Formats: sequence, C-alpha cells, structure tokens
Amino acid sequence: KVGMNVQDLSKLLHRDTAEIIKKLFLLGIVTNQNQSLDEDTIEILAADYGIEAKQKEEEDLADIDRFFDDAAVNEENLEPRAPVVTIMGHVDHGKTTLLDYLRKTNVTAGEAGGITQHIGAYQARLDGRLITFLDTPGHAAFTEMRARGANITDITVLVVAADDGVQPQTIEAINHAKAAGTPIIVAVNKIDKEGANPDQVINQLMAYDLVPEEYGGSTIFVKISAKMGQNVDQLLEMILLEADVLELKADPTVPARGSVIEARLDKGRGPVSTVLVQQGTLHVGDPVVVGNTYGRIRTMQNENGQDIKEAKPATPVQITGLNEVPSAGDRFVVMADEKSARAAGEERAKRAREEVRNSSSVVTLDTLFNTM
Ligand code: GTP
Ligand code: MG
Repeated sequence: KVGMNVQDLSKLLHRDTAEIIKKLFLLGIVTNQNQSLDEDTIEILAADYGIEAKQKEEEDLADIDRFFDDAAVNEENLEPRAPVVTIMGHVDHGKTTLLDYLRKTNVTAGEAGGITQHIGAYQARLDGRLITFLDTPGHAAFTEMRARGANITDITVLVVAADDGVQPQTIEAINHAKAAGTPIIVAVNKIDKEGANPDQVINQLMAYDLVPEEYGGSTIFVKISAKMGQNVDQLLEMILLEADVLELKADPTVPARGSVIEARLDKGRGPVSTVLVQQGTLHVGDPVVVGNTYGRIRTMQNENGQDIKEAKPATPVQITGLNEVPSAGDRFVVMADEKSARAAGEERAKRAREEVRNSSSVVTLDTLFNTM
C-alpha cells in the first residue's frame, strides 16, 4: 500500500519496528518509524519475509457498470422480486388503454382522493403479488435503454389489435424484445370489436416464431379487451406464471443500484427522475451517482405521489436531489459517501465530454483550405 510507514508495515508483518528498521538499514536504507516507505522498498522487505506484496489495484470509481456485472450480491440474501414488464405494440393497438385499465383497477380506496401523477412506471397487484409496468413512450425509450446496456425489462407484453393484425411496429417490437432476450406474452386486444379476428393474429404471428402451445410452441397468447377489462386478470396471471419460470430474485441488503426510466427538470424541485431500483434498497439521503451526474436523494415518492423513505428491488420511484437531469436508461449506483458520488459523477461527466470531443471532426489547415 502506498504511503505506508515503518510502523504500519511492522504491524502488518507482525514484527518489531526495531527489527524492520534494522533490516532496512542492512539494505542500505536509513529510516525512522514514522517515515513512509515507497512501493519498491515495501516489496523488497516483504520478499525478505517470504511475502509477496501486491499493491491493491485502484478501483475505478467512474466504472459504475461493474456494480451491475459483478456478483456483489449475497446468494443467501436473495429474495423474490416483482417482474418488470414493458408493453409494446403498433400505434392505436391499445397499449395505453391496457395500462389505464390496470391503473384504474389498482387505485385503492385510500388513494382515491390523492393525485395520481405520471411517473413513467407503476405497479399492479394480483393475489397479493406485484407486477411492475414500465409506461415508457414506446420504442424510442426501449431502444435507448437497450443501447445503454440497461436491460431492465424481464417480460414484454406485445399488444396486437384483433381488428388490425400484425403491423410494422408489431414486427419492430418483436425484434426489440428478441434482441433484449425477454420472453414475449401476446395480448390479442380489442376482441370486443366487431370484425375482430384474434385467430388470424395468431396465424400471422407464427411467421415470427411466436407459436402458441396448441400448435406445439411455447408462446402465451391471451385474448383481451383492454377497454372492457375482459381477460385482463388472466393476462396478469400469465405474467406471474412467466415470472415464476424466470425465478426473479434480488438482494435488498446491498447499496441500491438501478436505472433511470425518465427524467425532467421541474421548475420548483429541480431534476426529477423516475428510477427503477434493480438491486438493493434505496433510501432518502443516499449519495448516488446517476449517469454523468450525482447527488443525494432528497425526496422519494411512489407512483401514487406518497412520500416514502425506502424502496426495495423492482420498485419504481420518483426522486429529487440530483444536480442535473440524467437520461432515460442511465444507471445509478449508491456510493459509500457523498464525496465518492461526486468524484464518480464528475469523472463520468469529464469522460463523456472527452468522448464527444474525440469523436467530433478535427479542423486542420487542410480542411479549412478545402472548404474555402
Ligand atoms: P399509441 O400510444 O398511439 O401507440 O396507441 P396505443 O397503443 O396506446 O392505443 P390506445 O390505447 O390509445 O388505443 C387506441 C384506440 O383504441 C382508442 O380509441 C381506444 O379506446 C381503442 N381501444 C383500445 N383497446 C380497445 C379494446 O379492447 N376494445 C375497443 N373496442 N377499443 C379499444
Ligand atoms: Mg399510447
């Protein structure tokens, strides 16, 4: 370790300071017990005692992705968590209607008087089990999140209108879900409509490897009416069934980490972000690095606008307290203290600026003259 003095080293090696000083003297180095030793000296001395001194590799504070990749969670602390579901599909096929229906039936009596605000994500409940829905504005957010390596969706619900069938954005959604490696549950919607032909939708989707069980495949199809609420509970049941297969777990004991769903600047409150906690428990007061910015969680609210003090894995929350507005798909990590959060955030911002600078074209005399 750099900066170690003779006294520290003697403790580490379980030897008298006098012995260390004598040994160093024999090596031609005159020291006292408070003198700090350089790396080479420590190495030579340790080798003399048959110990290999290795400097601990300095950890890159700015590399927050390692918190997602490493196995820093304790297997013993893993607990089941709610599945995170994204609803996708062609324009007007009924995504918002489905989400609205779920939201309406999930507003409990106690919250009825409160203001339910849009936070870009919310949770539905069936038989006491929670499902987290991401209410992202379709493909753009999904693509962006995937591009940032934030694979936060466990299951994709593909909404296809039974009176319109497979359309370009349906295919796009299938490709997105496949690329992200999430299982697809098909919700054939608008079955209440005259002229609806759900079986034709199923036929069309088979060309995209979405084959129902009765035809030897493994894709779950649920025929629903988002407007009337028909079979929506069955859809939730199927989502939970799929979640059981995935055995989704998280460790609520580690420092929280997760992803930004959406963020904006609020005139009064500053940067306001909806984040999904993916691992650990997020608390008010936690120092965080988020994308290329940082801060300390000042307030935290659930989907119903209620102030909460902590959020467990798979919970979407709206937070304030960041210095700048992060981007959708940015990852966040709770750091040990505000100082390291700041250092990590500033370093990430610096690297991002450098990347932009390096990628922008360099103006040379040649290019200048060529354009004249
Ligand atoms: P975009 O956000 O524009 O991509 O559309 P969307 O997929 O969110 O569709 P939206 O929920 O806005 O529904 C479009 C229209 O279809 C609305 O007029 C809904 O009322 C209607 N609709 C949605 N689901 C159903 C349904 O189950 N039955 C009937 N009859 N109409 C439906
Ligand atoms: Mg919509």
